[in-house]
Amino acid sequence: MTLGVNIDHIATLRQARYAADPESPICEPDLVASAAASERAGASGITIHLRADRRHIQDRDVFRLRESITTKLNLEMGNTAEILDIALRVRPEEVCLVPENRAEITTEGGLDAAGQMRALAPAVARLHAAGIRVSLFIEPDPRQIDAAHQLGTAMVELHTGAFANATGPARAGEIRRLHEAALLAHGLGLQVNAGHGINYTNIRDIRALPHIAELNIGHSIIARALTVGLESAVAEMLALMRGTA
Ligand code: PXP
Repeated sequence: MTLGVNIDHIATLRQARYAADPESPICEPDLVASAAASERAGASGITIHLRADRRHIQDRDVFRLRESITTKLNLEMGNTAEILDIALRVRPEEVCLVPENRAEITTEGGLDAAGQMRALAPAVARLHAAGIRVSLFIEPDPRQIDAAHQLGTAMVELHTGAFANATGPARAGEIRRLHEAALLAHGLGLQVNAGHGINYTNIRDIRALPHIAELNIGHSIIARALTVGLESAVAEMLALMRGTA
């Protein structure tokens, strides 16, 4: 199980001070340095979400990170013509198509791949033609997994938000849903990734799921980094993922 570190929140912190002054010589924290620290600590990739409203990651970040990252770049994006054009110019190794709603604080809910097949098919085809591996960020729902299979994407990222938020008996139900979804997706030949709301505690349940190839984790790692530093925060998560902590 490998780890993609989502560094959007590092950009959120930078934007809080430097949104109006991006050319400032002390425009910090620096995303290139953060990505490098994550890679040094063992991350297998760096994940960023270029949102339509550019609330955290900026276009120049995407191009700078494309040049500096030595593992792989996973670009999360909504299926819009503008962002698709940028993705085709940047050519990340991977794109994860996500739903995007301007009012949300972070990505809420999975992509309705089953309901948007006609809109998604040309975007997936263009990304594939550019040699980019495509993932769909979907709920652990058989209809959505089947849609990803029909669209021919290499991967799905199962949305773990409902699991992360569930308490009491609902939690076991959410784990079961993820378990069954992982089995189904793997059986259809899809690489199974997971993300959203994964932290240093609930990782123990995520680790026990079958066939999970990669996790994309942002908030908990960046929050922990404030106390122990980014390299240690990434290394601690990797140790928990591998069961060595
Ligand atoms: N995966 C996807 C597709 C996401 O949209 C997000 C949130 O930006 C994450 C993973 C990471 O979620 P979190 O910040 O809760 O770890």
